[in-house]
Amino acid sequence: MNTQKPTILTAPRISSNLHIGNYFGAILPMIDMAKHRSDDYQINMFIADLHGLTTPIDYSNVQPLVWSYLRTFVAAGFPLDLPNVYLYRQSHIPAHSELTWILDCFTGMGEMARMTQFKDKSAKLSEDRISVGLFNYPVLMAADILLYNTRYVPVGDDQTQHIEFTRDIGERINNRFGEIFTIPETAKAQHEFFGKDQGLRIRDLQDPTKKMSKSDETGKGVIFLNDTPEQARKKIMTAATDSRGVIHYDYATQPGVSNLIEMHALLSGQTVAAVAAEWEGKSSYGELKTAVAASVSDFLTDFQHNLTTIDDALLKQKLASGEAAMRTLANATLLRVQTAVGLR
Ligand code: TRP
Repeated sequence: MNTQKPTILTAPRISSNLHIGNYFGAILPMIDMAKHRSDDYQINMFIADLHGLTTPIDYSNVQPLVWSYLRTFVAAGFPLDLPNVYLYRQSHIPAHSELTWILDCFTGMGEMARMTQFKDKSAKLSEDRISVGLFNYPVLMAADILLYNTRYVPVGDDQTQHIEFTRDIGERINNRFGEIFTIPETAKAQHEFFGKDQGLRIRDLQDPTKKMSKSDETGKGVIFLNDTPEQARKKIMTAATDSRGVIHYDYATQPGVSNLIEMHALLSGQTVAAVAAEWEGKSSYGELKTAVAASVSDFLTDFQHNLTTIDDALLKQKLASGEAAMRTLANATLLRVQTAVGLR
């Protein structure tokens, strides 16, 4: 079919400001992959801006969000100089939308209605705000993946069903028309490929039984990358813990304390085992919080400084070349589908 290297592809959906959970759980692993796997794989990292429109959003904030996500990648170390690493915006490659329409016509209503993310998200919206876009969100995601000969898609557990759907719809088209798409690996094979670190999750500071999430309304449990170091420090100092009075790294019995240990390790570049050993058996939660607060504040100070040093011209160049190359690749896949279904 072609001689292109298999692709590893991922994207954040734009929604609200990024937080340290996104940073350590999604952005850093992807950057690591871009740096270390680009000899053997084509690396695609894009901004899912079209997916950002599926739920209510402030439209005047879309461009600022897109650019803040892009700059965050660069400040976090995304390599702008590797030839096999592509950065692009979903809406700048028209083939995503065009393939979505065709795949829509091969997708059953029932299939989409069963998606747990759709059920969860639509349950939180009033009826007149549930869009058809939210309903067929997984079809657009399948198009994102199938356009680029993708083998691996590093995503969290909440996206497993979407990966399975991508395989289903891809196979449906291949069975009917011949080898049109590369089918991505199963979710299980993805986990094996990316290793145990995937799914590492910083928890919410106020409710450490759930992961840190962009949709937390109060923002108290979440450390955003654009919080001032002082705001972040306060959030750590008021984090929920427990009344045991002895520090022990165990999420089952002490989720708050364990989350603080985990964060401290990530923020200060130490292993969790080393930090856990250092604090094991101590009794002052206040001291632990003070230490974590200092590492959060140092981290944000450095990160926010990095943001000010970004070369926007270089970033724009990288986007322009990535988008041009991906348009060509995506259009080639789209043309195979258009031809198969009789449109060409
Ligand atoms: N649905 C993904 C999320 O919310 C974002 C996304 C859109 C994506 N298209 C993708 C992820 C393609 C991987 C591949 O996290």
